[in-house]
Amino acid sequence: MALGVTKLEPIPTTPVTSRWRRIVTPIPAPESIPVIERLRAAEPQSMAGLPPILWDQAEGFLVRDRFGNQWIDLTSGIVLANAGHAHPRILEAIRSATEHRLLATYAFPSESRLKLLEKLVALSPIPTSKAILYSSGTEATECALMLMRRHGQRIHPRKVGIVSLAGHYHGRTLAAHLASGMPQPTDWIERERVDHFQIPAPHSLTFPWGKSHEGACGAECFQSSINALAERGVGQERIAGLILEPVPGTTTMPIPLDFAAAAADWVQRHDVLLAFDEIQCGCGRTGRFFGGDHLGVTPDLIVLGKGLSSSLPVSAVIGRSTLLDLPLPGEMSSTHGGNPVCAAAALANLQVLEDERLMEVAVRTGAAVLDRLRGLQRDLPQRIRAVQGVGLFISVHLRRPDSDEPDVESADAVAQAAVRRGVLMFTTGRGYLKFTPPLSIDLEAALEAADVIRECLIERISTP
Ligand SMILES: Cc1ncc(COP(=O)(O)O)c(C=O)c1O
Repeated sequence: MALGVTKLEPIPTTPVTSRWRRIVTPIPAPESIPVIERLRAAEPQSMAGLPPILWDQAEGFLVRDRFGNQWIDLTSGIVLANAGHAHPRILEAIRSATEHRLLATYAFPSESRLKLLEKLVALSPIPTSKAILYSSGTEATECALMLMRRHGQRIHPRKVGIVSLAGHYHGRTLAAHLASGMPQPTDWIERERVDHFQIPAPHSLTFPWGKSHEGACGAECFQSSINALAERGVGQERIAGLILEPVPGTTTMPIPLDFAAAAADWVQRHDVLLAFDEIQCGCGRTGRFFGGDHLGVTPDLIVLGKGLSSSLPVSAVIGRSTLLDLPLPGEMSSTHGGNPVCAAAALANLQVLEDERLMEVAVRTGAAVLDRLRGLQRDLPQRIRAVQGVGLFISVHLRRPDSDEPDVESADAVAQAAVRRGVLMFTTGRGYLKFTPPLSIDLEAALEAADVIRECLIERISTP
């Protein structure tokens, strides 16, 4: 995904005042521009692809700048604030952890780490689980990939290959990056030289193998992909693990059930491990705690991040204890993994998700939003290819007029226009709009945001 650097010219706005939205300046706010310019001078352009809003405060499902503007947040940061931004119980947990004056412990025993680990083990669908904590999602993915390779290597020294799905995302550190994205020749490192292999995603809207977003590409696609690998000399004897997003961030739909079942059957028959990257779709986002709950398949490893704390950096790998115990003492740990303040935030977040029944809320709100957005699709079938999702993991896929090509420019223009009307969205650079607010969003606010998307889309396509 390549996004352009967002321009810093203030675009006039029509003032907006609703119960939740308030837009009182041009966007970007003129006073924010010198600050954003200083940021751009200090950090690389890779950081400059999102709408130029200078975040000052984020609370619940609202984001504010310090110039009087307020947005309904459809981003949850980057799909992370599942329990809402700055939830009072999470804030309180952070406050009391810092006041307790234990800010770091590394791998020394700590009670806050214990509480979070026991909670994760209790939530795990994997029998006899253990879990390990990290800070970023990519670090946890890296750990899962390392465990799969170590497991495979015990069977045969060459059984270290990782299979991933094109277009699924796993992070930006080396192995996570190798498992992510598209098999493009422009990749900065050649995947297959280090035993990383990609197969097509099953029901992608934009990738060649996918037949349709309705899931027609299932068991048969999986088998064809595996056969194609074997024909190139990459048989199961070279594969240690398969990693995928059970509900990918690009489609926001569970992968087809028969694809998942075929994959589960294949990994079991060939002593290959299966890892679910739940960094984005996990922690209640899809209306179930784990995205994999939609598939009826239990993986060997689960990776969590983002919504695990709805706030501070916490990630985790959960898996069978025999797997997690492969590395010896000292071989698998991280300086900040299980940091006491972060662990307290994550534990409070998991309690909030349960106590406020946010998964049930997400299912109800998500259904109403899908219904509203599908009305828009009925009105504009020539421009909207799909409106789909589970829970509050929803995407609207635009197409160029009378074509099946994704309409990247319109999707990003609609996201930018929505921001000027008080609905915070990210530009995806891929022809779709993502609707991923905090799960606690007020139903009326979610529908208001959907209506703003309608206005912006209609305006965009009626502009010559
Ligand atoms: C599915 C998935 N995996 C891995 C990552 C990487 O997580 P992080 O950015 O915390 O390293 C992300 C982040 O967007 C993600 O969505």
